[in-house]
Amino acid sequence: MEEKPQLEPSILTIFGITGDLAKRKILPSLYYLCKDNLLPDGTKVIGISRRELDVDEIINTVRSCIVEEGNVCEPEVINRLKSWITTFKLDLTNDDDYAKLSDYLDELEEKAGVCLDRIFYLAIPPQVYSEIIKFLGKHKLNDSCRHGNAKTKLMIEKPFGFDVTSAEQLISDTEKVFSESQIYRVDHYLAKETAQNIIRFRQHNPLFTNNWNGKHIKHIHVISKEKIGIENRVSFYEQVGAMRDLIQNHLMQLMSLAALNVPDGLTPKEVHTAKFDFLSTLIVPSSIKDITKQAIRGQYIGYKEEVKNPHSKTETFASLILHSSDPRWEGCSFQLTTGKALDEKLTAILIYFGQENSNVLSFRIYPDEGIDIELVIERPGFSHELDRIKMNFSYDQHPSDTVRPNTSYERVLVDAIRGDKLLFASKDEVIASWRILEPVLKYWQQESDDLIMYPTGSKGPDTSYL
Ligand code: BG6
Repeated sequence: MEEKPQLEPSILTIFGITGDLAKRKILPSLYYLCKDNLLPDGTKVIGISRRELDVDEIINTVRSCIVEEGNVCEPEVINRLKSWITTFKLDLTNDDDYAKLSDYLDELEEKAGVCLDRIFYLAIPPQVYSEIIKFLGKHKLNDSCRHGNAKTKLMIEKPFGFDVTSAEQLISDTEKVFSESQIYRVDHYLAKETAQNIIRFRQHNPLFTNNWNGKHIKHIHVISKEKIGIENRVSFYEQVGAMRDLIQNHLMQLMSLAALNVPDGLTPKEVHTAKFDFLSTLIVPSSIKDITKQAIRGQYIGYKEEVKNPHSKTETFASLILHSSDPRWEGCSFQLTTGKALDEKLTAILIYFGQENSNVLSFRIYPDEGIDIELVIERPGFSHELDRIKMNFSYDQHPSDTVRPNTSYERVLVDAIRGDKLLFASKDEVIASWRILEPVLKYWQQESDDLIMYPTGSKGPDTSYL
């Protein structure tokens, strides 16, 4: 039986406790971590909100999320979780409130009789990150508690910026207060089981290791299709769109795991450098001709009414083809596709081997998380026709003597608490990714004729001509 990670109690201060992310992902993950005894007693969760908030309100949210997912919400677990949570009223722009927060944290630690690691989780719109970070610095909340030297960490959610300039600005604002080692840029796709498997799979299966290049692999497609629309996130989505919401971060990250030169060691630093090195080889499509040949975008019918903006050009679908200047990848194209309100939810990394795509290796993230490979065989019988068959591995079939988090956000939280930065994004990766996409985003901002409208529940725009 694999051992559970041994975690020390810490104080998790969540900005935006009543927001969508906290409701849908962070709070249910805390419930499961509590249920699986992955978080120790003594853990403290502080829910920050602009208004007076009762802990019961938070607990009711957790309860309904768990039930909505079709699971039973266990009263004992809920009570234990509840005993960890307190709330704190804070106006994000009020200097005094941060001073009070600082006192409050000290008080909690004095009561506990120890200095605890402090984690500030910004689960709020990115436009306010810089301001909050400035206040945290001003009140020395970037430092450990007054009486000892426990660690302090900052967790931030994507999108990290809006383009190269704003991402650089955010990085510089953050660096004035927190060192890079304290910053955890969350990309929950990296924490998905299959994503974690890609490098190891490539490293330990010589059948693939030696063929992992453009001579054998002709196409790599990272795809994240969703059935859901924008789910009331109107103002967020109107500003962001599909490219910034998923391609710039999640899909670029998955692509770099699939294509990086596997480093000798797998330390966070080595992996981050290898991802950055690959991203830096991607050729930025700069001319209008290249952009229109390599990128398409679409919007589902009904979106404009939903966001009450008849002129909205925001893309809810995007697909982009890129090439690498690394000689290793000569002959291979890289495609990133995402879309909302489509016919199915599908998240996968598809690796196409051979001119005829004879073998397709799929790292499936959703549905049925696992890995499969399509092979060409001769069809049984008298004819000599060829056939394609699939060999399949599902994580659900794995003999389970392992401790597995239920969701990627549980993994994100555990890794941030134990200080493992492997599954987070580095600042260099973030900037490299913006650099590649910026010309396309700029072109899209000026143009509108290229926006393809597609019906909800369909396959989305045709990408075959890319
Ligand atoms: C988020 C995006 O990062 O990922 C959402 O902001 C998207 O728009 C979500 O729906 C998808 O995550 P998952 O884990 O459900 O594939």
